[in-house]
Amino acid sequence: MDFYLDTANVEEIKRINRLGLVDGITTNPSIIAKENKDFKETIKEICSIVDGPVSAEVIGQTVDEMVEEARDIATWAPNVVVKIPMTEEGLEAVNILSGEGIKTNVTLVFSVAQGLMAAKAGATYVSPFVGRVDDIGEDGIELIQNLKVVLKNYNYDAKIITASVRTIGHLEKAARAGADIATIPGSLLPKLWKHPLTDNGIEKFLADWEKVPK
Ligand code: E4P
Repeated sequence: MDFYLDTANVEEIKRINRLGLVDGITTNPSIIAKENKDFKETIKEICSIVDGPVSAEVIGQTVDEMVEEARDIATWAPNVVVKIPMTEEGLEAVNILSGEGIKTNVTLVFSVAQGLMAAKAGATYVSPFVGRVDDIGEDGIELIQNLKVVLKNYNYDAKIITASVRTIGHLEKAARAGADIATIPGSLLPKLWKHPLTDNGIEKFLADWEKVPK
């Protein structure tokens, strides 16, 4: 499973990248706004730090606006991926952009049908939002499981990015469901490698080591 970081914080990206855990980055307008920095410069800087795909989202809502923005964003770096919202206009834009070889990540996917439409339109990635699906009383992980089966049934190339990941359980269950990628907020990541029994174990070993004659 590939791990993307769901952040535009350059310091966070550099720190976690040093662990060899970062396969890519996803951003959205809310994530970009938190950094209070120029959008283009931020994306370019992230693309220079991380080897893998870096998603940057369009703001336009019409087909023409999205396609124009996407063509521009695609020139910012070789590893940039254009995030397109899951709308009728978004699907048309994805269809045009995939014909031009521009990689897309269809975002705000909340149903199997939406994921299937995005894959059929030519999306490189589809991003179902598990946390937000759970928020409305449905099952986000079930969405991942079902979308995985459907994309496999018809051999679509689109990769599933499990997005809106909020818990360790989300990540573990998405991995079990065969999601290609999970995009994880920087604040959640340390919880994936930390365990109280590991910390207790180290403490006990060090205490016992003090008793060894030296
Ligand atoms: C994915 O690409 C999105 O940026 C992200 O996962 C949204 O997560 P949220 O629901 O926690 O805002």
